[in-house]
Amino acid sequence: MKNILIYVAMQSEAQPIIEALDLTITSLLPKALPMQTFAGKKDKHHYLLVTSGKSTLYGVDNVGTEPAAVGLQAALQLFDADLVINAGTAGGWQTKGAKIAQVYLGKSPIRYHDHRIPIPTFEAYGRGSYPCMDTSELARKLNLTQGFISTSNSLDFNQDCDRLMQENNADCKEMECAALAWVCHLYQKPFLPVKAITDFVDGKHPTAEQFQQNLNRTCEALKNAVIKLLAII
Ligand code: ADE
Repeated sequence: MKNILIYVAMQSEAQPIIEALDLTITSLLPKALPMQTFAGKKDKHHYLLVTSGKSTLYGVDNVGTEPAAVGLQAALQLFDADLVINAGTAGGWQTKGAKIAQVYLGKSPIRYHDHRIPIPTFEAYGRGSYPCMDTSELARKLNLTQGFISTSNSLDFNQDCDRLMQENNADCKEMECAALAWVCHLYQKPFLPVKAITDFVDGKHPTAEQFQQNLNRTCEALKNAVIKLLAII
């Protein structure tokens, strides 16, 4: 029996997993925080799924690194997780063989592509390079691809982001993973990122359009992969 914390930024990414694990909404976190928690016990494990919740100011999901770091840190205060999983969507590269709804397991190091601090002693800190679990055995067993994950707070990207994503060898471009990896590094928790591709970073169509069009089917694929992972962990 393990305590497994699953961090999912958006409600639409989380909902299929919440339903598959029969989790129920709980209010465990301090009232000031917008993150939502869903708890339950199924088969071998206790689960706490945390989402970033909605912004009361803007009415949308609190995507991005700050809510992810605050939400995971708060959740770890009350749930002694044996493992932290980050399940979410990401952009991928057609030129690197990515397919829509393809699921990747993260590979160390997890890095940022928008923390640029061009002072020699700060440069590596800005980039991040946080570890995750060795996912090679899980990837082999479940026939999933391993990939490098690169994080920023932007859905789009500029030339500097592009250069750094290339330097990071990025397979998955997303908005929370490096921040969650940092918190796991601080708390010494094993960290397992699972990312499913909603859009092509090098595609012809605008990212937002691809994202919206492919979200449901990608979240279904994400849920299926997470459930299979949980069965063999
Ligand atoms: N989530 C899904 N697709 C993304 C992208 N292209 N960039 C950042 N986060 C994403």
